[in-house]
Amino acid sequence: MAQTEPVTAVIVGGGHRAIIYGDYSLKHPDELKIVGIADPMAERREMAMKRYGFPAENCFASAQELAQRPKFADAVINGTMDHQHFETSVPLLEKGYDMLLEKPFAVSEEEMQKLLAVIHANGSKVMICHVLRYTPFYRAVKRRILSGELGDIINIQMAEHVSYHHLSTSYVRGKWANSDVCKTSMLLAKSCHDIDIMMWLMGSVRPKTVTSAGSIFQFRPENAPKDAGTRCLVDCPLADTCRYSAKKLYFEHPNRWECYVWADLEHGENVTDEDRWNSLLKSPYGRCIYKCDNNVVDHQSVLVNFENGATGTHNMIGGSARSARIIHIIGTKGELEGVFEDNAITVRIIDADEESGFRTESVDLSEAEAEGHGGGDDALTADFVRYIRTGEQSISCTAIDNSVAGHLTVFNADRSRENGGAPVYCDFSKYEGSPD
Ligand SMILES: NC(=O)c1ccc[n+]([C@@H]2O[C@H](COP(=O)([O-])OP(=O)(O)OC[C@H]3O[C@@H](n4cnc5c(N)ncnc54)[C@H](O)[C@@H]3O)[C@@H](O)[C@H]2O)c1
Repeated sequence: MAQTEPVTAVIVGGGHRAIIYGDYSLKHPDELKIVGIADPMAERREMAMKRYGFPAENCFASAQELAQRPKFADAVINGTMDHQHFETSVPLLEKGYDMLLEKPFAVSEEEMQKLLAVIHANGSKVMICHVLRYTPFYRAVKRRILSGELGDIINIQMAEHVSYHHLSTSYVRGKWANSDVCKTSMLLAKSCHDIDIMMWLMGSVRPKTVTSAGSIFQFRPENAPKDAGTRCLVDCPLADTCRYSAKKLYFEHPNRWECYVWADLEHGENVTDEDRWNSLLKSPYGRCIYKCDNNVVDHQSVLVNFENGATGTHNMIGGSARSARIIHIIGTKGELEGVFEDNAITVRIIDADEESGFRTESVDLSEAEAEGHGGGDDALTADFVRYIRTGEQSISCTAIDNSVAGHLTVFNADRSRENGGAPVYCDFSKYEGSPD
């Protein structure tokens, strides 16, 4: 019988992502109730306790400590960092918790296999936060494919343009810049969403081989301007002219990527310009963009060869003026194209009777636009609640087995890139479940 009481959940890793999902409980208290937190940061535990109104006894210093306590909620919302997903999830899954788990759910194929084994052994319901699947834009694309009007997909072209300020904040200066520290590649951290979308749109057709190439094109020490210092606000004469200067990017635009750039100030009250300036004097975000410890690529291209002969490409390019996700699908009966940020798609259906040779339909999805990943964050949390209550999966639902094809394709793309672009075979024989 479907559960009618709110689903109860403990937040594990109370960073900005988990709080976004947790806040669904404030808007829909009849559906979700946050009843505890595990996080090593005392300020974050305190904040969550006040925000959601649970007792201090439900605060834990880590996922591992939470796992020592008898299970007291239906689920866990795991918003720890990428390389912590495995170690924080396993003891809680073994305790019987279901889970909403951030992407990437594992940082290597080996971790992925071990995590799946634990989940299957415990019969856990685990959903991965592929928020794009829940946006009106990608849902519209998926529905068009399911309707059959495009025919069989011959080719999917996808691109993700990562803006210059996003690239420099997250992948040159920030948390996902050095794979020795964060354990992820840029493709895994950024485009596992896009590759997941490609797999979702291809339905049950699996990738056969993957090839990939990429490099660090821009931000290397040898590309630094001659006079550049090491820290923008300390020793650089170019602080007012360099487009990547921390003064221009962050100090003069304090709302830009604030959850990362001002993380050290997030619990301060009445944060001033002086506080922000002082933060940039010492934080990673005040470093010269050309003199960081970044080792992840800033652009990468992926070519997927599917088992039925269809092909898909994904180009991730960091450093663009504007952030954009672009898609163009060509099927045997028609084609679809659109830009996620424009919230519109165009469908062209082959029609030999028309003078142009096709019929065109333009669809404006902006009416459906909402906060957070184009409306995806809340829709995903709502679907998670439904999945926990009923076990039913919507067309967007990314139960973990549905996320395997995307993760495996990303792992293999990175293997190919590291091996000079050699094709890597996607071996699904080790995995149960459906790839869509
Ligand atoms: N779905 C999306 O669109 C999307 C967008 C951005 C980030 N993400 C992903 O969300 C995840 C979280 O990112 P974030 O920026 O919110 O991270 P964050 O660093 O702000 O939060 C992580 C939290 O985990 C806590 N933590 C560390 N070890 C722990 C342990 N053993 N037990 C419990 N808590 C522990 C940390 O103290 C921290 O508060 C990452 O995996 C990231 O890739 C997803």
